[in-house]
Amino acid sequence: MGVLDGKVIIITGGGRGIGRAHALAFAKAGAQLVINDHGTAPDGTGHDPTVAAAVAAEIGGSNVLANDADVSTRAGVESLLQAAIARFGRVDGLVHNAGFVNDAAILELDDARWGAAIHGLLSSTYLMVQAVAKHLVSRGAPGQILTTTSLIGIHGGAGLPSYAAAKAGIIGYSKSASMELKPHNITVNVLSPLAYTRLTAPMLADVPNAADLLRPESIADVAVFLASPLAADISGAVVDVQGPRVALIHSNQGEGAVPAKGAQWTPEELRDRWSEF
Ligand SMILES: NC(=O)c1ccc[n+]([C@@H]2O[C@H](COP(=O)([O-])OP(=O)(O)OC[C@H]3O[C@@H](n4cnc5c(N)ncnc54)[C@H](O)[C@@H]3O)[C@@H](O)[C@H]2O)c1
Repeated sequence: MGVLDGKVIIITGGGRGIGRAHALAFAKAGAQLVINDHGTAPDGTGHDPTVAAAVAAEIGGSNVLANDADVSTRAGVESLLQAAIARFGRVDGLVHNAGFVNDAAILELDDARWGAAIHGLLSSTYLMVQAVAKHLVSRGAPGQILTTTSLIGIHGGAGLPSYAAAKAGIIGYSKSASMELKPHNITVNVLSPLAYTRLTAPMLADVPNAADLLRPESIADVAVFLASPLAADISGAVVDVQGPRVALIHSNQGEGAVPAKGAQWTPEELRDRWSEF
């Protein structure tokens, strides 16, 4: 018995890196899988239909379906959902993991790169979560949804402004979805992974043993839990996973302060008391 026995789950970007680890772990946990991957280059361009098919073949058997739709388009998302329903009759959960990096520093950033990041990362999250949520609500079925942000979306990243903006947007969208979908017994949680993949290999080049310390499989272990009935009461969480270390990310607003006299701040008092806020 696996914790995902009988569940039908869509994994986007499931052909490589963290998504491939998700796929292998979800299959081991008993899920019926739709492995979606458009097979893009690291910058999100191009299309290779063999990428999803290779992982489906690696898992083997009749409980897995490969799909190469582009989930940044409504047509792609709808075709993916229809393919899943045609094969398995329903969908119980989603891991929206597809992503890429195609960024430039603000002074060099152009509309095309900005648009690609917002579209491919944030709009794909909007479309995938909405499609799966509508399907679940129409069936009156509970479900579990995971989206994927990044520490760069939380803290920002020099040279990565559009990636950061899109990944930050994913948190706001997913938390809103978790509130709206709670009455329908649908959970929405956000993974913030750090793993050694083709996307991060260049920036982790100086970290000794990065490939061993930051295995994509560690992210997948947490994803299996969050997609399982064991986590049916957890929603709206942002979960940082770096190797075996798991940490919840909370917003940490300061306690705040009010002006010493009256209700209005002067610029001078704001300057003097800035460290109190
Ligand atoms: N690797 C990390 O440390 C790290 C850190 C923070 C966030 N992330 C996020 O985790 C996710 C997975 O990253 P990874 O490092 O495994 O990358 P990866 O490049 O190894 O895999 C991502 C996969 O997504 C697919 N993809 C991209 N656009 C797609 C689209 N429109 N439709 C369908 N498939 C598409 C690609 O073909 C690729 O196979 C991404 O969302 C990434 O932003 C990764």
